[in-house]
Order: sequence, then structure tokens, then C-alpha cells
Amino acid sequence: MRIIICDNYYEMSKKAAILVASQVNMNPRSVLGLATGSTPEGMYSILINMYNNKEVDFSEVTTFNLDEYFPISKSNSQSYDFFMKKHLFSHINVPETNINIPNGEACDAEKECEEYEKKIDAFGGIDLQILGIGQNGHIGFNEPDEFLFSNTHKTDLTESTISANSRFFASADEVPKNALTMGMATILKAKKIVLLASGKSKHDAISKLVSGKITTSCPATMLNMHKDLVVICDKEAYHG
Ligand code: F6R
Repeated sequence: MRIIICDNYYEMSKKAAILVASQVNMNPRSVLGLATGSTPEGMYSILINMYNNKEVDFSEVTTFNLDEYFPISKSNSQSYDFFMKKHLFSHINVPETNINIPNGEACDAEKECEEYEKKIDAFGGIDLQILGIGQNGHIGFNEPDEFLFSNTHKTDLTESTISANSRFFASADEVPKNALTMGMATILKAKKIVLLASGKSKHDAISKLVSGKITTSCPATMLNMHKDLVVICDKEAYHG
């Protein structure tokens, strides 16, 4: 694991954006794994600037998002589909047909998950996976538990995640109770992983991750099994 400690959120976002742009410049047909949430918003905004300055071109890139609420309609402003269009896709030239997000409108969630996993494999896997981290150490919607599913699957949200995400909804009752998410094995198959963390609230989870121990009660610690993991965090997340 390589850990980059930044002074602040902007520096973290800038370093991550440069890594993504370098990946795409080295291989214009890169397969990117993307995350939603507050953490990567700054990175997306810097990537949009880089695209506008012609420093990076996304015309041949393929993307796979980590997760999506279930059920949720794509037009719901809290869906991850909506988030990605708002914060990235509608500002860059990635073709719509190259964008993949688990379908929160699917009739058959199990079939959707199986096909999503197969599609990632058919593209030769993810070259660079961007991750955020939950306060409880969740990755995607892989929540702390005794057992975790390995591949893309439908899952329940924990009370802690419902409460953390309720800030985006009118009330906690409106947060969907399920999600479709890549599993830890799907994520660990990525060739390179970059995990971003900002703020004191992420300190516990980051401490467990960097301890080097592995437990399903903090899914982020499973990333210790990956041979090419870069953690970019700010001082607050690292030192608490
Ligand atoms: C989002 C995702 C989640 C977030 C995590 C942190 O696609 O997979 O695991 O990365 O909940 O969210 P923020 O960045 O809002 O603190």
C-alpha cells in the first residue's frame, strides 16, 4: 500500500485527478471504476477542468460505477446515475454507451448483478478503480458483516449508512433500504485501486485500513490483499 498524505481536500482531489488523467493518457481505452459520494466530487471537478483545457480525452474510455441504490429511478436526483451525470459525465466526452452503472430500475436485481459482473470481465477488468470509504469502513455498499458477498450483488444498507446518507434525502425514511454493489472480489480484481479519504470522520476507518490487519467487520481492510493500492487522504483523515 502506498499512502499519500495531503494538506487538504483540494490537494487530495488534485493528486487523484492527475492519477486518473495519467491513466487515460497512457491508455486512452482505459476501463475506469468510479465512485459517488462527497469525497470524489473535487476530483471530478478538476478532471472536468483538465478535459476543458485539452489535457485529457475520455472519448475511448469505458466506466463502471461501484454501486447504485435499489430500487431507484434514474431521474431521482439522489440516484447515483443522476449524480454521475451532474458531477462528471455531462461535462466530458465519454460516450453514453461506454458508461455502466448498476441499474436501480432493473426488474430482476440478481440478473442485473450477474450481467454487470460478466460485463466487467468481458472488458478485461477494471484498470483503475476509484474508491471512497464509509465511516464504518464500508467500500461501495459492502457493509461490515460476518460474511460478505464476493461478486456484484443486491444488499441491505446498514442503519449507520442510512443515517449518513440521509443528509442527501428529505428524511432517513426516504433513503432506499437496498443497493446493488460490486463485491469485494469484484473490486480486488481491479488492476490498480486509488482510495480517497478526507476529514476526521474517516480517521477510524483509515486507521484500521493502514493497520494491515484484515477483517470483514471493516471491509476496507480487505484492500490490504491488493498489490497496487494507493491511499490518498488528507491530514485529518490520517491523523484524526
Ligand atoms: C459511493 C460509495 C460509498 C462512498 C462512501 C463514502 O459510490 O461507494 O462507499 O464511497 O459512502 O461517502 P462520502 O464520500 O460521501 O463520504
